[in-house]
Amino acid sequence: MNFIGSEKLQKMTASIFQEVADRKMAANKKGKDVIDLSVGSPDFSPPSFVVDALVESAKDTSKYGYTLKGIAEFNEAVGYFYKQRYEVDLDPAKEVLQLMGSQDGLAHLATAIINPGDFCLVPDPGYPIYEASVHIAGGVIYPMPLLAENKFLPNLKNIPLEVLEKTRMMIISYPGNPVTALADRGFFEEVVVFARTHNILVVHDFAYSELIFDRNPQISFMSVPGAKEVGIEFNSLSKTFNMAGCRIGYVVGNEQAIHLLATFKSNIDYGVFYPIQHAAVKALTSDFSYLREQVKEYELRRDALISGLIKSGWQVAKSPATMFVWAKIPLGWTSRQFAFELIDRAGVAVIPGDAFGAQGEGYVRIALVQPPERLSQAAERIEKFLVDRLIKK
Ligand SMILES: Cc1ncc(COP(=O)(O)O)c(C=O)c1O
Repeated sequence: MNFIGSEKLQKMTASIFQEVADRKMAANKKGKDVIDLSVGSPDFSPPSFVVDALVESAKDTSKYGYTLKGIAEFNEAVGYFYKQRYEVDLDPAKEVLQLMGSQDGLAHLATAIINPGDFCLVPDPGYPIYEASVHIAGGVIYPMPLLAENKFLPNLKNIPLEVLEKTRMMIISYPGNPVTALADRGFFEEVVVFARTHNILVVHDFAYSELIFDRNPQISFMSVPGAKEVGIEFNSLSKTFNMAGCRIGYVVGNEQAIHLLATFKSNIDYGVFYPIQHAAVKALTSDFSYLREQVKEYELRRDALISGLIKSGWQVAKSPATMFVWAKIPLGWTSRQFAFELIDRAGVAVIPGDAFGAQGEGYVRIALVQPPERLSQAAERIEKFLVDRLIKK
């Protein structure tokens, strides 16, 4: 027997991520210490009161059944959180849907919304599930380049009318992964008008809504007038409360779009384990002091890395948000050459930017998933590597 996988699967290979992991492993096997800044999995612990709630709830044997769309308290807690944090009013019954991580919703939404041949506008570079979800749905991807000279915002005026006529959905993410830029209110207002004009569902991925630094404003797309009429917003407890393995997230906004996703999901999953929902309610209705502390920790990490890299002569822009640095690489390398040499020679693992789309070429993504001291050490190793390479060139 020879199983080769479907055409859709072949479009979805995660080869670069795997190659980075393999190279890291090979270096480890040779006894080399590799500082792993490749995977965006948070290394902080969830708040202890959240862990306690989960443990306590898990002792209740009546809570081991299917939970379907989840408990009403969860939706209410999301409503509370959105009001407190982003000044957004939500109807918990109709404008909130629980997800098994935001990935669950992002992966399935396109299939619930678009037909084969419909277009979807996707950021380039962008988080890989955006493209993959459109492939799963049989849709057509229209990449929107996110360029430094346009503050990493898509130029909506450049999208041809014949594309817009066939477009059902667009995905944006501010702050995003790998591009850490923030959008201002003006951009979101432009998106609302654009979506209304062309009858497009806007999907805003706000997974990093609580990792915003330097007191920059945390702008939910849903807080912009008219946003609920045209769009939805994905969010998650994965990064906000370091509950990534719990697989709990949610989508808020347009009632109709949420209903379509809920209908689709009712065919494929039966909900999140009750104790996780209970713990999530505790997190979302807490006093949020945990979030302030976490932002400070990430700022320290970012500053340790960036100051070290700038000292090395590599002029890397300071991330305004998220757990990543989106770094333009020095001239003379492709993203992959640079990333692979960093693993092999410097002992630092990062992801080449082209893993996130063609416009990611010339960049690498560095994840702030190690303590400040380790990040400073990574910067020192990179400095040594750059000096060696410049001397040899
Ligand atoms: C931009 C972005 N959106 C969504 C997700 C998915 O997160 P989760 O499914 O854990 O909520 C991630 C995870 O890394 C991400 O980086």
